[in-house]
Amino acid sequence: MSIFSPLSAHSGWQPFDTFMSDALYHPEHGYYTRSQSQIGNDAATSDFATSPVISPFFGKTLAKQVAECLEATGTSEVWEFGAGTGALALQLLTALGDKITRYNIVDLSGSLQAQQKATLEAGLQATPDMLSRVHWLQALPDMFSGVIVGNEVLDAMPVKLLVRTNHVWHERGVVNLNDDLSFADLPTELRPPFDVAGTHDYLTEIHPQGEAFIQTLADKLLKSRQLTGKGGAILMIDYGFGESEYYHPERSMGTLMCHQAHQSSTNPLEHVGEKDITSHINFTGIALAAQDAGLTVNSYTSQGRFLLNCGLLDHLVNASLAERAMAQKLVTEHEMGELFKVICLSTLPDFEPLGFVAGDRSHTL
Ligand SMILES: C[S@@+](CC[C@H](N)C(=O)[O-])C[C@H]1O[C@@H](n2cnc3c(N)ncnc32)[C@H](O)[C@@H]1O
Repeated sequence: MSIFSPLSAHSGWQPFDTFMSDALYHPEHGYYTRSQSQIGNDAATSDFATSPVISPFFGKTLAKQVAECLEATGTSEVWEFGAGTGALALQLLTALGDKITRYNIVDLSGSLQAQQKATLEAGLQATPDMLSRVHWLQALPDMFSGVIVGNEVLDAMPVKLLVRTNHVWHERGVVNLNDDLSFADLPTELRPPFDVAGTHDYLTEIHPQGEAFIQTLADKLLKSRQLTGKGGAILMIDYGFGESEYYHPERSMGTLMCHQAHQSSTNPLEHVGEKDITSHINFTGIALAAQDAGLTVNSYTSQGRFLLNCGLLDHLVNASLAERAMAQKLVTEHEMGELFKVICLSTLPDFEPLGFVAGDRSHTL
């Protein structure tokens, strides 16, 4: 059933980001609202795998960077956005113990919140004191301090689609004619943030929601620093590139992608609400949003470099072959090591985080 059938008021043209928001987060029909699991390693029971689910060494290794950020900011709270199955929360809490006095989880998905609770209750049953430090928030406080972590959360935020056809830029939207969804393009003043060379037909995305999200986090951290002396750091991990690569003339079909049963497809108008819709991240846009709001862009690098800098290999010394094989996926260039990036943004202008000491690429943004 189309997610639009109960929404007859929306039967006209809708911008793609509104459609994507409904497809993923509609309270009844959204992909992330349903109770089936989305994230896992098995194609029979899930749609896609993420780093903390692929290998627990992801969180164990990231913990070293989180610990340094907590120390540098003089804080002891972690804020995880889009915590998925709860795997990363469990890995960080187990690795960091008393360095964390409070672990806040913010997730739009009620069904994933239930999964997070189950994961943490099972994983922390021997340490009920650690479990009591985990809190789920439905709304953000006016200000907060600490270390913010988000793995693959930015790619789940709705994007706008822009299409250049016959030299004219259009915004792509969705129309619903008798429950038959199709794309419709309207001329627009909107433009990609980076001039796309050439005059050929071109489809791409812009990310106002993801960038507004970073601005909101920045405002809250900076307000806290101003009023309490304590600010924070943001570590965002996701697939993407800087803007010159994102808006490369040859990337003329954009980066929008759907995932279902560990298969990818390109048409978001089919099986609406049954598959994930994502786009890559323009990390230049994320860095500029943070900088415009008053944060420092401390560092940016590939996930492979980051995890090696944080000592992934030390953790693997006593690991089994199977465990090493899974951890390797996180760093090898043809899997997740190069496409995935890590960015560190903070209220600390001179902070040089350890995860970026070799191979920092901030200058490429
Ligand atoms: C691709 S999943 C990644 C889950 C998890 N971080 C992992 O690595 O397995 C995206 C997650 O982001 C959440 N999400 C999307 N937008 C969000 C927002 N604005 N605030 C908090 N969570 C959000 C979704 O509900 C979902 O849990």
